[in-house]
Amino acid sequence: MEVPPPLVLKRPLYVPSKTLMGPGPSNCSHRVLEAMSNPVLGHMHPECLQIMDEVKEGIKYIFQTLNDATMCISGAGHSGMEAALCNLIEDGDVVLMGITGVWGHRAGDMARRYGAEVHYVEASFGRALSHEEITFAFEAHRPKVFFIAQGDSSTGIIQQNIRELGELCRKYDCFLIVDTVASLGGTEFLMDEWKVDVAYTGSQKSLGGPAGLTPISFSKRALTRIRKRKTKPKVYYFDILLIGQYWGCYGTPRIYHHTISSTLLYGLREALAHFCAVGLKAVVRRHQECSKRLQLGIEELGLEMFVSREEERLPTVNTIKVPFGVDWKKVAEYAMRKYSVEISGGLGPTVEHVFRIGLMGENATVERVDMVLSILNEAIQSSKLGIKTDLSK
Ligand code: GLV
Repeated sequence: MEVPPPLVLKRPLYVPSKTLMGPGPSNCSHRVLEAMSNPVLGHMHPECLQIMDEVKEGIKYIFQTLNDATMCISGAGHSGMEAALCNLIEDGDVVLMGITGVWGHRAGDMARRYGAEVHYVEASFGRALSHEEITFAFEAHRPKVFFIAQGDSSTGIIQQNIRELGELCRKYDCFLIVDTVASLGGTEFLMDEWKVDVAYTGSQKSLGGPAGLTPISFSKRALTRIRKRKTKPKVYYFDILLIGQYWGCYGTPRIYHHTISSTLLYGLREALAHFCAVGLKAVVRRHQECSKRLQLGIEELGLEMFVSREEERLPTVNTIKVPFGVDWKKVAEYAMRKYSVEISGGLGPTVEHVFRIGLMGENATVERVDMVLSILNEAIQSSKLGIKTDLSK
């Protein structure tokens, strides 16, 4: 039997316009969207390689690093996590995961697949990890690799002491992986100064680029370890010695590793160009000011932030306790149906407990903060009154 062409593909493409104020992606600017409508280039064409070089420079700036091994993994943020672990871990290596939400557990799942012996150090619910808790776990497990998310998007917690963790890792001859997917742009991050060995971030959050390319950087120290591995990294696609050759990181001729999406590259290049033009410090300040305004507004509405300590609140993904008797799903549905605004529910340990409001990139503005506060309030009141969220009925 012949499979007929599907009828659905005879219809024109339909994409609604939405304001993305969940944990990411955030909305892309016109500059980014326009860039992505440029003609496709071949993945080894000199113009494409030139754009990759420009993107590489932008990534060095946002991470504040001079690392040669700075590039993108072709994949969403998860691919950065995979690549970091895949390249550093060999069978039997002891790996310690810092847990402030869902991402340390996910990294643990991946690390085990790469053959690691995985241990966890878990913060109290709603809190960041203290230096003492982490040091205690280092003493107990003597890890070869330590993973921590600077910002955990599931809980809205920021881990402020990365500089100290860099020192701690050197003391214990351990490699430090920092996930900055949700935090970069909303808080300071100084890769070289803080002695971070691997950092990666999301293109689709505070950067305001398209999802699908993940900026990542490896320190010289990490690169030396990777070059001395007894076995090759278990996944060819994540082998940064190969990907780095494609990205022209090591002064060797470019090789074909995979076919990068030139379209995504254009978008990321323009997002980085905008970020660089505004300046790292100004971007961070804007994200922090917006979050402060949101937090104040939340208090005025009689609501409560999930993270009790102000200094442990991630400015980019803000978590707000769902009030007793309110159905978070109805609130989110109301915001989407009436205003096409995304307000998200929790993830992992915060499911059913919190709303997550993302203030990232294009959406980190005073106007968007005031808008989302007013919509959240209206949606909560409506859900209390039992107003139907399906406005068409
Ligand atoms: C994605 O990053 C999420 O937190 O849902």
